[in-house]
Amino acid sequence: MIGRLRSQTMEWGKSLIDWTEDRTGAVTLMEHFLYEPVPKRGAWLYTLGSATLFLITLQFLTGILLLFYYVPTTDHAWNSVYYIMNGAYFGVLIRGIHYWSANFLLAVIGLHMARTFFSGSYKAPRELNWIVGVILLLLVVGLAFTGYLLRWDQDGFWASVVGVKIGSWTPLLGPYIVQFLIGGDVVGPATLARFFAIHVWLLPAAIAPFIGIHLYLLRRHGEFGSEFEYTDRIAKLHERQRQESYSQLELEEDDYDEAYDGESLRSEDDDRDRRDGGG
Ligand code: HEM
Repeated sequence: MIGRLRSQTMEWGKSLIDWTEDRTGAVTLMEHFLYEPVPKRGAWLYTLGSATLFLITLQFLTGILLLFYYVPTTDHAWNSVYYIMNGAYFGVLIRGIHYWSANFLLAVIGLHMARTFFSGSYKAPRELNWIVGVILLLLVVGLAFTGYLLRWDQDGFWASVVGVKIGSWTPLLGPYIVQFLIGGDVVGPATLARFFAIHVWLLPAAIAPFIGIHLYLLRRHGEFGSEFEYTDRIAKLHERQRQESYSQLELEEDDYDEAYDGESLRSEDDDRDRRDGGG
């Protein structure tokens, strides 16, 4: 019974996929988008980029949902977060996912960067993708920094004060950075408004196209070290191996012929000796 149900469901699923593929070509497109050959060694480490992509997508989605209740003013920010946690439907869950995926994002992005570094993926022709990655890292750090102030509690407030102080030491640009971020003399309503705008509009709008470029460049060059990258070189190597084994075979045949000739000459000599000795 269960077996029949399962096979029937699979049949329906297959017909639905075929139907969609015939009309849209979406299945081929998805396959093209999702499948990327990776080197056999350490294949799991090549999922870290996709994990980063997954986490940042979660950030975007949960962030949009939080905006339904969050109010970016010094009077209401903390209270709105409190309401999200205690009154809004699924508020705890959505804020929890936003918070934890932000933390994991920073860790996973670091691991992804370490993988690309230790596997040498930053080398030509992928230098540009490495640079795009560094820009993405800085933008994500910016997201984390600006997001911290939005809850408008003691932790977020003082972390932002320290962060802005560090920025003020930037050679030449220090005072401008402080002015741009704080929007006044002290961290206050203008700062919250600016951090909100940067966190919700500026950085996501900058990150999205850079992710697009990152993925485009990845598709263009393929994963570093995959067989796909070395198709040409592997074909040449196989050709060389074939030729080498062919010439090896010829050499062996020559040796065999020589040995055979030597053997027959020797036996002719033996015959002659035997005849001579016997005569
Ligand atoms: C929002 C941040 C990022 C996202 C969403 C992202 C996403 C991805 C994805 C999906 C891949 C392909 C799968 C993989 O190789 O794991 C990839 C590859 C790559 N990423 Fe990232 N990445 C991000 C940040 C970074 C950072 C910070 C760096 C380094 C500074 C970086 C450098 C690279 C390089 C060089 C490749 C090509 C790897 C290869 O060909 O072997 N990425 N990225």
